[in-house]
Amino acid sequence: MAVITVAQPKGGPGKSTIALLLGLTFSADCKVVLLDADPNQPLMTWAEGTDIGSNLQVVEVQNKRDISAVIQQAAAQAEMVIVDTEGIADLRILTAINVSDLVVIPCQGSILDQQSAVDLIQAIRNQKHEPPHAVVMNRTSAAIRPKDLTTTIDQFKAYGIAVLETEVMERSAFRSLFSFGTTFSGLSKEGVTGVDRAIENAKALAHEVRSILQCQR
Ligand SMILES: Nc1ncnc2c1ncn2[C@@H]1O[C@H](COP(=O)(O)OP(=O)(O)OP(=O)(O)O)[C@@H](O)[C@H]1O
Ligand SMILES: [Mg+2]
Repeated sequence: MAVITVAQPKGGPGKSTIALLLGLTFSADCKVVLLDADPNQPLMTWAEGTDIGSNLQVVEVQNKRDISAVIQQAAAQAEMVIVDTEGIADLRILTAINVSDLVVIPCQGSILDQQSAVDLIQAIRNQKHEPPHAVVMNRTSAAIRPKDLTTTIDQFKAYGIAVLETEVMERSAFRSLFSFGTTFSGLSKEGVTGVDRAIENAKALAHEVRSILQCQR
């Protein structure tokens, strides 16, 4: 059993997208609970009316004060618990972070994303038992490597912050999961293109996350 929290105090770097990609990919071979701890309920809304399969469950965290109890309950039913959090600086999130086996911090290649990631990482590093954490670069392009992306990655590394090898690419298929309220298999029926490459990217991310979790054991 492993708990992964996806966190970044800044709005919009891709927390819900990455939580969903991990949830969908891991649920191909194990039981997963996705905890929606964002009052805007992006994952609860996504799951409404969607055939998400028997291995995946999306559960709302009604009160963030209860988050560790909700995580414990979920952990009793699933091999993987993934927590999607709100894009605000909220210290209650540390309760989830402190019971996590890995904190995944999505970041786009910009100084604003970088600064808020570093703020969160400083808070994580101030915890008694520093929970394992890593940044994942999101919305990157294979064709273009803007200077602010490479600078952001270099600066994380200079601060001794782990950055996942796998980047999540900018892909309309990832947006479409939410737009059409569907899983990867439903995307092709909607005529969305690039689904195979999107699945491959999500699998590479899940594979790297799983190997980090295994290394910790
Ligand atoms: N890799 C990607 N490719 C294409 N679109 C993406 C990608 N990642 C995120 N997006 C889009 O960017 C927007 C913000 O993403 P998302 O909602 O996942 O961010 P968030 O960090 O959860 O935001 P919030 O802080 O509001 O919770 C959404 O429209 C989403 O579809
Ligand atoms: Mg979100």
